[in-house]
Amino acid sequence: MKFFQVSPEIHGFNTFDEFLEEFEVSSKDVILTNRVIFEPLQEKSKIDCPVIYSEDYGTSEPTDEMVQAMMDKIDTYDYDRLIAVGGGAVLDTAKLLVLERTGSIDFLYENPQENVKKAKTLICVPTTAGTGSEVTNVAVMIRTKMDLKMGIQTQDMFCDYAVLIPELLDTVGYELFTHTTVDALIHSVEAYISKNATPFTDLLAEHAIELILEGYMDIRDNGKDVRFERNNEYLLASTYAGLSFGTAGCGTVHACSFAFGGKYDVPHGEACYQFFIETLRFFQRNNPDGNISKLNNYLSSIFDCEDGLGALDDLLDAVAPLEKMSAYGAVEADIKPFAKATYENQQRLLKNNEYPVDEKDLEEIFRLRL
Ligand SMILES: [Fe+2]
Repeated sequence: MKFFQVSPEIHGFNTFDEFLEEFEVSSKDVILTNRVIFEPLQEKSKIDCPVIYSEDYGTSEPTDEMVQAMMDKIDTYDYDRLIAVGGGAVLDTAKLLVLERTGSIDFLYENPQENVKKAKTLICVPTTAGTGSEVTNVAVMIRTKMDLKMGIQTQDMFCDYAVLIPELLDTVGYELFTHTTVDALIHSVEAYISKNATPFTDLLAEHAIELILEGYMDIRDNGKDVRFERNNEYLLASTYAGLSFGTAGCGTVHACSFAFGGKYDVPHGEACYQFFIETLRFFQRNNPDGNISKLNNYLSSIFDCEDGLGALDDLLDAVAPLEKMSAYGAVEADIKPFAKATYENQQRLLKNNEYPVDEKDLEEIFRLRL
């Protein structure tokens, strides 16, 4: 049994300037980022390397066509390292830009273990506490011909350096903050109940869950602005969660998010949140003695109550109220196709479930969220 997988070196700095100095960022580097994140940094810091702005290639979540256009652009530079400064979409895109150009993007998906080879050094600097992409070996994009979001996962998809800078979280608005940190919470919870969970992944998942829920309780009791006092904790939690699910894997919640998020253009964290509690309730009904009981016990110890899952549901409602899928436009006719697409295309995630979930089970979860 694989206990734990580690790859990037993890660094932390108080400010972006400290990072620029320590990593000796120069004109031999290229930065991939978004204007809204990078322009304030440029005003304060001296940065003289080429910058690629992801939104110049499209504003949706990354597609294979956007990634190909960015590959064509970055190939015009003579550079050694790519520095990705952004949320999960920017970090995932960067993982693809540094690959050897062995063929089309479809070719990478055909046999990732053989066809994916890293050619440049990659430094990932997350600006949201969410995906944990800086420490995982997966990148997700929309395959336009198939109209589907799919991940590529191989050893070569790890970045070389993950750099944590809490001040970068200051620019994140409240809604994005909740959806990204809920994503990190879901990573830790799905890793914790995964059939691949190990003592190492549990240690990291528990700490991530505790840090995020303590932060949420602080917001519930003291208002939205207190979140800024815990930037460092949220950033650490999302990285711990990334390390945990990097080995244990995510499961049903993430699997369900892709069909819904893809069709109704719902960002990743928000789409995952949609299925979070319903999936946990499903496991509680169908496999009550499995890892879900370990989770309920752990949540009960944090909330100091018997029904840990119920307390989690109440806390999330207070901090980030959620509308059902129908509020995004989903209808009954979506349910069967969503369940079918999830079952057929997300086995990469569903195989991590301790309790096997079939197409009918997925239908049940989707229908309960309509
Ligand atoms: Fe996620």
